[in-house]
Amino acid sequence: MKDNFKKICRVSDLYSRKGRRFDLDDENEIAVFKADGEIFVVDNICPHNHTSQIYDGYVEEMYVSCPVHGFRFHLKTGEQPTNAGCRLRTFEYEIRDDCLYVKIPDEKRFDFKI
Ligand code: FES
Repeated sequence: MKDNFKKICRVSDLYSRKGRRFDLDDENEIAVFKADGEIFVVDNICPHNHTSQIYDGYVEEMYVSCPVHGFRFHLKTGEQPTNAGCRLRTFEYEIRDDCLYVKIPDEKRFDFKI
């Protein structure tokens, strides 16, 4: 196993169009969705106002709507329908033996230099 992938959950524990929230590490919180038989892993923190509720968003036509102000983000690309404005981060993943493993990003979300 690649050491920068973290085991998150069983794929069989995911339900269609219903998001689940997980901590990937100390600074990355993810939302996992299953839609049209495919898995999507995105940031749980909305880039619009930095609220952590993407997992509770409504999924329609491959877009998740943030429940706070309704911005829509594509589950695969993280882009908004117009490809303008803020973009939701997406995460690389692998599935092994019915388990979802998500890659911990190389770049830090918060890079405080002291
Ligand atoms: S906080 Fe998500 S759309 Fe405003």
